[in-house]
Amino acid sequence: MVSRVIPVDPFDLVIFGGTGDLARRKILPGLYRRHQDGQMPDDARIIGAARGEMDAEGYRVFVENAVREFVPKKKCDPKDLKGFLARLSFVQLDATGTQGWSDLKAVVRQDVVQAFYFSVGPSLFGAIAERLHTHGIAGPEARIVVEKPFGHDQASAQALNDTLAQHFAEHQIYRIDHYLGKETVQNLMALRFGNMLFEPLWNAQYVDHIQITVAETVGVEGRGSYYDRSGAMRDMVQNHLMQLLCLTAMEPPSKFEPNAVRDEKLKIIRALDPVATDDIVRGQYRGSNTVASYLEDAETDASTTESFVAMKVHISNWRWNGTPFYLRTGKRMRGRMSEIVVRFKEPPHSIFEEDTGQSANELSIRLQPNEGMDLKVTIKEPGLGGMRLIDVPLDMTFADALGEEAADAPDAYERLIMDVIRGNQTLFMRGDEVEAAWAWTDPIIAGWEDRGDRPKPYDPFSTGPEEALMLLHKDGRRWREIRE
Ligand code: BG6
Repeated sequence: MVSRVIPVDPFDLVIFGGTGDLARRKILPGLYRRHQDGQMPDDARIIGAARGEMDAEGYRVFVENAVREFVPKKKCDPKDLKGFLARLSFVQLDATGTQGWSDLKAVVRQDVVQAFYFSVGPSLFGAIAERLHTHGIAGPEARIVVEKPFGHDQASAQALNDTLAQHFAEHQIYRIDHYLGKETVQNLMALRFGNMLFEPLWNAQYVDHIQITVAETVGVEGRGSYYDRSGAMRDMVQNHLMQLLCLTAMEPPSKFEPNAVRDEKLKIIRALDPVATDDIVRGQYRGSNTVASYLEDAETDASTTESFVAMKVHISNWRWNGTPFYLRTGKRMRGRMSEIVVRFKEPPHSIFEEDTGQSANELSIRLQPNEGMDLKVTIKEPGLGGMRLIDVPLDMTFADALGEEAADAPDAYERLIMDVIRGNQTLFMRGDEVEAAWAWTDPIIAGWEDRGDRPKPYDPFSTGPEEALMLLHKDGRRWREIRE
């Protein structure tokens, strides 16, 4: 595989929340990798900003520890680390007060790309956006990066959009959904729109149904207080699963260009039918001898928040009329597995004897682990014994097909941050998209609240509540297995 690193322009990247968990786990290790790959020009600089007391030297130690903890050992090269740390500085600052802002102004240059990463809670977005302006720090083309959760319903998302719009134009706002930065998610677009093979079949006439699964083995330990206010619907479905659904279902955009892609995604979100009560299953994991229950992890005695959700979704448009999309996501599931499965219809008429077996093609796109795709095709079982049909996978695990470098593709954050510097918004959510996603999610959540719906308990490291299996069984279908 040929890896081509295209250097970006000189930049100043300010990370608000520069000592926070996301910065430590994802943003800073990701930036180190981009430095190591030679993507940053000499005068690219990274400025951590946070409330806590710290100086530049202290920040470098913090960042070095983060890199050592979250970058694989073999990539922690002392020379690269030294070069990377030399790019760093730190400003102590009060996001909602006055302290530190003139220091930040003195550090941030006006003649390079300016990017401000809001790696802080949404309640601080407005205060930071405003101060970047009143202190004359952000130039007219400055970019801001905002993290999820982008609101907790349509009204709050709208309010956040309005707040940011007071100081920044839409083309300056980069709303991150890190799923869009995953290698295989982009591959989904390459597969659909770079090949002639699939697109003619990619519709209700040939596709029986589509499954999108994002299963995790982790629980909510350590972040229970955030999670208990969100649940799987707000934490995963409204954003990550919705984005996967959009990219799978959307019409071909005329160009791989920000607004062309986002317009098509938005049309899908707006074409989603409301979900019938019987078409959703919510679950909450129990504890076992080895792991705590959801309630223990969330440190609460009682909670009706779901850690699992499965649902059947319909898209009301010509392409998908009659082809359901089944979505499922959960914590403490049997395995960590994210994949999109396109199940094609059976051939309309079998020329073979009834007992030869009957099957349908299945394309699965694996986001993680072992990124890759496989396509189940039906062949004759080799050997004697008459005409017997079996399904075999045409498997393409990227690491096998393209070498180790494929397995070592940049993490989602690395790619997305470089896209910010390049000024490319294709893989970021537009304000109207986020609001539309909430507009579809809100009534579902409101319905649960009105009915006092309680999630069904499920065993840890299982496939979720029994009812989730029934959701497909009653339609004569089956979920793809979640592998351990
Ligand atoms: C985050 C959610 O956005 O995505 C987490 O808040 C979840 O709850 C995480 O665990 C999953 O991301 P990934 O990249 O590990 O699949």
